[in-house]
Amino acid sequence: MQHDKVLILDFGSQYTQLIARRVRELNIYSEIHPFNNPPKNINDYKAVVLSGSPMSVRSEDAFHPDLSEIRGKKPMLAVCYGAQYLAHFSGGEVADSNTREYGRANLSFVAEDAFFKNIAVGSQVWMSHSDTIKSLPTKGKLLASTHDVKNAAYKIEGEATYAIQFHPEVYHSTDGKQLLENFLVDIANVNPDWTPNAFVQETVDDLQAKLGDDKVVLGLSGGVDSSVAAMLLHKAIGKNLYCIFVNNGLLRKNEFTQVLEQYKGMGLNVKGVDASARFLDALAGLSDPEKKRKAIGNAFIEVFDQEANLIEDVKWLAQGTIYPDVIESVSATGGPSATIKSHHNVGGLPDYMKLKIVEPLRALFKDEVRRVGASMGMDKDLLGRHPFPGPGLAIRILGDITAEKVRILQEVDAVFINGLRDAGLYDKVWQAGAILLPVNSVGVMGDERTYEKCVALRAVESTDGMTADWVNLPYEFLQKTSNDIINKVKGVNRVVYDISSKPPATIEWE
Ligand code: XMP
Repeated sequence: MQHDKVLILDFGSQYTQLIARRVRELNIYSEIHPFNNPPKNINDYKAVVLSGSPMSVRSEDAFHPDLSEIRGKKPMLAVCYGAQYLAHFSGGEVADSNTREYGRANLSFVAEDAFFKNIAVGSQVWMSHSDTIKSLPTKGKLLASTHDVKNAAYKIEGEATYAIQFHPEVYHSTDGKQLLENFLVDIANVNPDWTPNAFVQETVDDLQAKLGDDKVVLGLSGGVDSSVAAMLLHKAIGKNLYCIFVNNGLLRKNEFTQVLEQYKGMGLNVKGVDASARFLDALAGLSDPEKKRKAIGNAFIEVFDQEANLIEDVKWLAQGTIYPDVIESVSATGGPSATIKSHHNVGGLPDYMKLKIVEPLRALFKDEVRRVGASMGMDKDLLGRHPFPGPGLAIRILGDITAEKVRILQEVDAVFINGLRDAGLYDKVWQAGAILLPVNSVGVMGDERTYEKCVALRAVESTDGMTADWVNLPYEFLQKTSNDIINKVKGVNRVVYDISSKPPATIEWE
């Protein structure tokens, strides 16, 4: 089954990914491509959205998209920079606005038009621009204004071309989703039939066609992406999927056995490999964070390679790569900049393994991965798990790693995480964990003087880990957690809470 697709041409706005997500929330598949590296076959797309940009259309090196195959030929929605671009180079005028227009505004005029169906005067919109459209382009017809921005929305008569100065993709634009629906479904006639169930069905069909009777190996991490990728492949090829779950000894307390059981309960063909000792050996004496990461990455490759070699005639390596890892975005200085991350546990498999790569989640955002998992009936707890770094507790033990330090941190982390669950706070936090500091401090327990370890607790809110803020956990919770840790975990006599945001701090301490 083919779905209608929407093309989003990126001009480097921080909100471009949000546009794609909002469109997909309407059950419409959308793809982001850099404006200067568009897909070959524009006719595969039913409608086009032009994103915003940090660039000014008045700048000498303003971005000039080639719209010859698009404008007037298919429905187009131009947002912010897109709207200014259309105005400035087609007979209108864009000028510096005297005040930087940033934040909430309300529509003060709305024309009768299918574009504004169910959206009325007073509707809140989100502005973020320093240029303003002084006059509309040729054949431009005003559709909406706010108090400060007269030309907040317009269309081009005789074309299915619409332009808006505000950002419908941002939640603060309260009718933004309605506006996108009006444009895509009512005006562009896009069929909203891209649902999680449809995705599962089609992906399973595609995987079957692609893989046939071939064997596939996949490294499970206990995280959401690799687990959902495994379930999709399992549905498609059953026992020909060989999953390997490596215990690097740096997982959370009891995680290896618990998650392994959970995977087996899902019917997966999974082999648990306990290589803790090997990883600890590889880490011996290393304190530098990057050296630790490298040692863990190399040890993982060795173990994975050894295990994969035991699978006779395996042809494919499956990875849980998701869409944000593959999107090319336009940088503010021009030119597409690749933002491809290499996951430490899959990025560097030796070439001699000669495995072909299969990535069933390449087209999905994280929240979509969760929805696809839910539509396959996967466990809510598994799908809602906090992100956990590949190098595990090794980058939360500052300095060198010993078995005893790992034991202490696993205990502390378990008290903290279980406490969050018991207090109903786990799902309110994006990521949480404990950090073992290379600091001993003086305490007193009973009548004894102690000189023991200090741990830091970290809990953050975030959407993608790129920026984050510390969570305002209730004092009562922190008080209880601190007591529990110091009472239950031998070797710790002091607990602190990290109140740094990212940037300038990072989520992990190493
Ligand atoms: P930072 O510390 O950079 O972390 O703010 C952002 C997100 O990335 C995770 N992280 C890693 N994940 N290998 C991984 O697989 C790594 O080396 C690594 N370092 C950081 C971190 O847990 C957070 O979710």
